[in-house]
Amino acid sequence: MREIKEIAKAIREAERIVVFTGAGISAESGVPTFRGKEGLWKRYRPEELATPQAFARDPKLVWEWYNWRRELIAPLQPNPGHRFVAALETLGAQVTVVTQNIDGLHKKAGSTVIEEVHGNIWQVRCTKEGTITENTQVPLPEIPPHCPECGALLRPNVVWFGEALPQDVWMRALDAASKADLMLVIGTSAVVYPAAGLPENTLAAGGRVVEINPDPTPLSGTVTWSLRMKAGEAGRALAEELGLNI
Ligand code: OAD
Repeated sequence: MREIKEIAKAIREAERIVVFTGAGISAESGVPTFRGKEGLWKRYRPEELATPQAFARDPKLVWEWYNWRRELIAPLQPNPGHRFVAALETLGAQVTVVTQNIDGLHKKAGSTVIEEVHGNIWQVRCTKEGTITENTQVPLPEIPPHCPECGALLRPNVVWFGEALPQDVWMRALDAASKADLMLVIGTSAVVYPAAGLPENTLAAGGRVVEINPDPTPLSGTVTWSLRMKAGEAGRALAEELGLNI
C-alpha cells in the first residue's frame, strides 16, 4: 500500500515524533470507547458520571463506575497498536506519547515517555491533601475509598469534564507537539478540547500529521495522511514496513 510506504518513510526521517492517542488505540485490547454504545455503563453516559458535580452528589456511584472500569481493564493486554508505538523508540527518534487514555496500556507495552493528559485510572488522589498514590486494588475493598492518612474521600486521579488538565503534563504535551516533525494521531474522535487541538500545533510549526482511525474525524481534512485502518492493523503494517519486531 502506497500510503504505508510513504508514512514509513516519514517515520524513518523524523527526529521528534509525537504519538497522540485516544480510546480507539485500546479498542482492540477490549477497552470500550466513549463515543459509541459500548461506552455506556448501566444507563449512564460518561458525561454524566465523569464530572466533579456527579462526584459531589454521589461519590459511591462514581466510584462504582470506576471500580467497574478498573475490573474491566485490569486483565487486558496491549495490542499491536500499542506495541508498534513502543517499538518506534528503537528507531532512534525522540518519541513522546501523549495519551487521553487512562488505562495504562502504553506503559504496559513498553513506551517510556508518556504524558497522560487525562490522568490515570490506577492512581487515586486525596480530595483534602491532593496527594497522589498508585492503587491497583481490584475490586476496591471499600467504595468510596478513603485516604489512609487523613480519612478524607479519595477520587480517581483523572480529569473530569469541566476540569483543567494537569498543567505540567499539558505544557510538556504542547511543547512536544509544537516541536515534532511528525505526529501520529491514533484512535481519537478529536472532539474533546483542549487535547483535540494538539495536532494543530504540529501542523502550524510545519510538522506532518498522520491520522489512523477507521472512521473520519474533524481532523481528517487537515492532516497529511489519513489512514482508514484500525490501530492494530496499521501498527502491524507499519512495523513490517519498518522492520520493527512487535
Ligand atoms: P472516543 O470514544 O471519542 O473516540 C474513539 C475513536 O476511536 C473514534 O474516532 C473511533 O472511530 C476510533 N476507533 C475505534 N476503534 C478503533 C480502532 N480499532 N483503531 C483506531 N481507532 C479506532 O475516544 P477519545 O477520542 O479518546 O475524556 O475521547 C476523548 C475523551 O473524551 C476521553 O479521553 C474522555 C472522553 O470522554 C475524559 O474523560 C476527560
